[in-house]
Amino acid sequence: MATQSLFTNSSKYQCGKFTVGKFLSLLMVSGLIYLFAHKSSDGFVSGEIHDKVENRHTKKDSPKIHTFWRKPPRLPPRLPPNEIYKNNSLLLQSPPSEWASRQKKVKEAFEHAWSGYRNYAMGYDELMPLSRRGVDGLGGLGATVVDSLDTAIIMGVDDVVSEASKWIEDNLMKKLSEKGQVNLFETTIRVLGGLLSAYHLSGGDKARGSDSGVPVTSKRANPERLLEVSKDLADRLLLAFTSSPTAIPFSDVVLRDRTAHAAPDGLSSTSEATTLQLEYSYLSTISGDPKYDLEAMKVLEHMRKLPTVEGLVPIYINPSSGQFSGENIRLGSRGDSYYEYLLKVWVQQEKYRNTSLKYLFEMYTEAMRGVKHLLVRKTIPNGLVFVGELPYGRNGGFSPKMDHLVCFLPGTLALGATKGITKKKALENHLLTVEDLENLQLAEDLAKTCVEMYFVTSTGLAPEIAYFHIEGNSEGGPDGGNKSSQYVNDIMIKPLDRHNLLRPETVESLFVLYRITEDPKYREWGWRIFQAFEKYTKVDSGGYSSLDDVTNLPPPRRDKMETFFLGETLKYLYLLFGESSILPLDKYVFNTEAHPLPIIQSAEQTSHSV
Ligand SMILES: *[C@@H]1O[C@H](CO)[C@@H](O)[C@H](O)[C@H]1NC(C)=O
Ligand SMILES: *[C@@H]1O[C@H](CO)[C@@H](O)[C@H](O)[C@H]1NC(C)=O
Ligand SMILES: *[C@@H]1O[C@H](CO)[C@@H](O)[C@H](O)[C@H]1NC(C)=O
Repeated sequence: MATQSLFTNSSKYQCGKFTVGKFLSLLMVSGLIYLFAHKSSDGFVSGEIHDKVENRHTKKDSPKIHTFWRKPPRLPPRLPPNEIYKNNSLLLQSPPSEWASRQKKVKEAFEHAWSGYRNYAMGYDELMPLSRRGVDGLGGLGATVVDSLDTAIIMGVDDVVSEASKWIEDNLMKKLSEKGQVNLFETTIRVLGGLLSAYHLSGGDKARGSDSGVPVTSKRANPERLLEVSKDLADRLLLAFTSSPTAIPFSDVVLRDRTAHAAPDGLSSTSEATTLQLEYSYLSTISGDPKYDLEAMKVLEHMRKLPTVEGLVPIYINPSSGQFSGENIRLGSRGDSYYEYLLKVWVQQEKYRNTSLKYLFEMYTEAMRGVKHLLVRKTIPNGLVFVGELPYGRNGGFSPKMDHLVCFLPGTLALGATKGITKKKALENHLLTVEDLENLQLAEDLAKTCVEMYFVTSTGLAPEIAYFHIEGNSEGGPDGGNKSSQYVNDIMIKPLDRHNLLRPETVESLFVLYRITEDPKYREWGWRIFQAFEKYTKVDSGGYSSLDDVTNLPPPRRDKMETFFLGETLKYLYLLFGESSILPLDKYVFNTEAHPLPIIQSAEQTSHSV
């Protein structure tokens, strides 16, 4: 049953995306059928022996084939490759050399971002690019240095690799013993994640070392030292798990005291407590010490037992009781990466996907059904697909609000559908269920909405939060300022939501969707977004700045360069414009801060993998 409908469905997909070559061969086949049908005088019923695709096109194209067959055949014009790219609006494609030069532009942007940070803020968490100084907003562990290191390795920026790794080797251990309070989640995903990824990419992990495709740089971080620092940090952070009375960790850790405590209101964010496992599991793998993995996985095993609303969960959880707090459901802030890690933790441990971790994929699948049933809506007048919120739970009202953070979801949905291989390959191997295809379609629709959140503003950069115009909700609102955008009435941006923090989620999804669908439009969209960052956020003296208002020209700036601009945004853009053999998505899983970690396969499964 499933196989049957899958086949029909995949044929439909294939014919949706004609290349010129396919179209021509189909014309030829159709032409032959047409000739044959006419010769065999009415006795030929093509529908009976030909599949749906051919059948449909034979009928539709019949008149054209008639003329086609009488006139001399029209051959496609012979053009040099560049002209073909330029002239083929269907493909929207720039030539390969163009992508290499665009990728180089992203590398230059990274060097510019780093130069501002190094010159004015080295060792601080973040750069304030306008006041040209540093600020410790994340507990003072030099978060930008650690977040940037693997990006520099991937891009092959040797100077940054050596500066960042030297700083880490000389300073980080000492800071761990001196600094005070840090947030468990932020420190895990940025600092621990960055250290572990750099460890792997610097050749520390010999067992899983050869698949990244990342060129070896002449300057190397010292992997042994990175592992040592990772363990020291993780040992301190582990207190958040072990001192909590339940499986839900406290949100804050005091590094120098080796103590942990709950946030002032006693609550942890659901996403924070459940977005730690990729990092601790990998640390257990490379250190040989299972304690990290054990503590972190207890959280997900606990989540499994809690009641949900069709797989959807409230955004707060209480570490003292282990129960959810409140009913607010959303895939934006405090909810987002719960759903991301359900999938990615399952993806990471390939050898347990069918056994002990199967429940995670089931929770993910149920949650995505819940998203489709309860949260996905379309805008008026133009039918953009978006994910709204249920601030008062299932029985409260629907809010047509979507954080930019939700734009991680297209990438996650696409990864969940094909498990990292291309859609083409997955279709060829009959690996996609109807539900996978449905999720992939939703991913593509949501990615479109996410990029329109950029293109609808005066700057071409998305706001932090958008509201969508839906049927039955006549309440209008201020628009994004780009009056020539088709979607200017679909998307509303409230005054307090107009800032842009250089966030990565949309380009992250474009990267994943490009890898999986191979559709060049995702690259073109990424390029437009990159150009807008260049135009409006670049600071001459070094670095890039967050903006206060993307709907105004020139946009007022906010004087902050978030670490994730170097750790995530520029990395995903670089990978989007580059070769798909670098960090392939069936061999690597990116943590929620874009730090790639290897998928752990047993030797046996590697030989069986498709
Ligand atoms: C591109 O296409 C247009 C018409 O679509 C044609 O007039 C033009 O000559 C083409 N360009 C080249 C370089 O052939
Ligand atoms: C896991 O289960 C799926 C679906 O039943 C199957 O296709 C796959 O081969 C299994 N993988 C392993 C490693 O057993
Ligand atoms: C405004 O919308 C038009 C039409 O979609 C588009 O061509 C243009 O690039 C947009 N402007 C910005 C700044 O994105």
